[in-house]
Amino acid sequence: MTMRPFIWAISLIFSLAISCSAQKKVIYKKDKGLLRVIETDFKDAAGQYKMLAKNLPVDKFPKTWFPSTEKYEFSSSEWWCSGFYPGTLLYLYEQTKDPSLYTEAERILKVLEKEKNNTSTHDLGFMMFCSFGNANRIAAKPEYKDILLTSAKSLCTRFNPKVGCIRSWDSKAGDFLVIIDNMMNLELLFWATKVSGDSSFYKIAVTHANTTIKNHFRPDHSSYHVLNYDAETGVVKQKRTAQGAADGSAWARGQAWGLYGFTVMYRETKDPVYLEQANQIARFILDHPNLPADKIPYWDFNAPGIPDALRDASAASIMASALLELSGYADSKVSKEYIVIAEKMLKTLSGTAYKAAAGTNGGFILQHGVGHMPNKTEIDVPLTYGDYYFIEALIRYKNL
Ligand code: GLY
Repeated sequence: MTMRPFIWAISLIFSLAISCSAQKKVIYKKDKGLLRVIETDFKDAAGQYKMLAKNLPVDKFPKTWFPSTEKYEFSSSEWWCSGFYPGTLLYLYEQTKDPSLYTEAERILKVLEKEKNNTSTHDLGFMMFCSFGNANRIAAKPEYKDILLTSAKSLCTRFNPKVGCIRSWDSKAGDFLVIIDNMMNLELLFWATKVSGDSSFYKIAVTHANTTIKNHFRPDHSSYHVLNYDAETGVVKQKRTAQGAADGSAWARGQAWGLYGFTVMYRETKDPVYLEQANQIARFILDHPNLPADKIPYWDFNAPGIPDALRDASAASIMASALLELSGYADSKVSKEYIVIAEKMLKTLSGTAYKAAAGTNGGFILQHGVGHMPNKTEIDVPLTYGDYYFIEALIRYKNL
């Protein structure tokens, strides 16, 4: 199914026109102090990632580092986080122009490449777009394009038209599990339609997002983590959690993935339904009585033990990055609010409570992420995605 070039050209011009006018609406004076902090953050982060690179086994990817034992946990390329290390190296290379960061990114991309054929995960957007997507943006190469298109095709094998979603986790026959995190894998599909002209990628992304709006959200605009659909009929069988405090709770990173995902949906389609969805998720987060004054969320908005519950720096990084993009689409009053909150998040994350001192934290940039509380894994540790979205958010603020 190939969209005609004429329709594409018109829709591209229309999108650009709306996008430019949306971007022009807000004139915001950036915080000069924060801009100085950001430049220091880039230099410090580059130093940390060089340390991380030195400690990395040749065919492995960083997962985390445990402050209590001072030991690393590494992963193979199949782990959902494998794209964040190369992605962060590439962002930091762009900011520092340190060629050793680029060389290390190119090395690890070769280890990652084989995942383009992986059809057993929905995480190919995270894995391949945060890595090869950034590499291709910085220096486009035919092999990167090929890897990304192959990855997009692999991801689409998991789409079930009856359910209207891409399958997140494999499970027993008849079940079809979809998690809110999956919204983050759709950007790869929009890219694939733009470069190939094949609109089937675009249609799958839009269908997945529309099904998610219909079923994944509660009346207060928070989202469930996991939905179990009947694979044959598409009927929702269960709404539950895996990484949150309870089925009915608002797992902080899940809210962050939704916010970011629907912001990307609006960027790529200009459909106001997605802008409204992103704004509603933002309202849930920003107006929540359990969002602390420093704006770093607890790992779950309904975590037991608040105010003594652990915070999740990774959720704050993702939210800050998403809010900064969303500020370019929202109306001016709300836009300013999003920027002010993102500034607060970035200042807090850049402070000593969260940003690791040079030569500590195993070379990771941020401390205090929560990976999987119910599993009791990766609790109060650095996380590669926390680092990636933190650096992305700093870049977005700098480029506002
Ligand atoms: N499931 C991906 C995450 O932990 O956010």
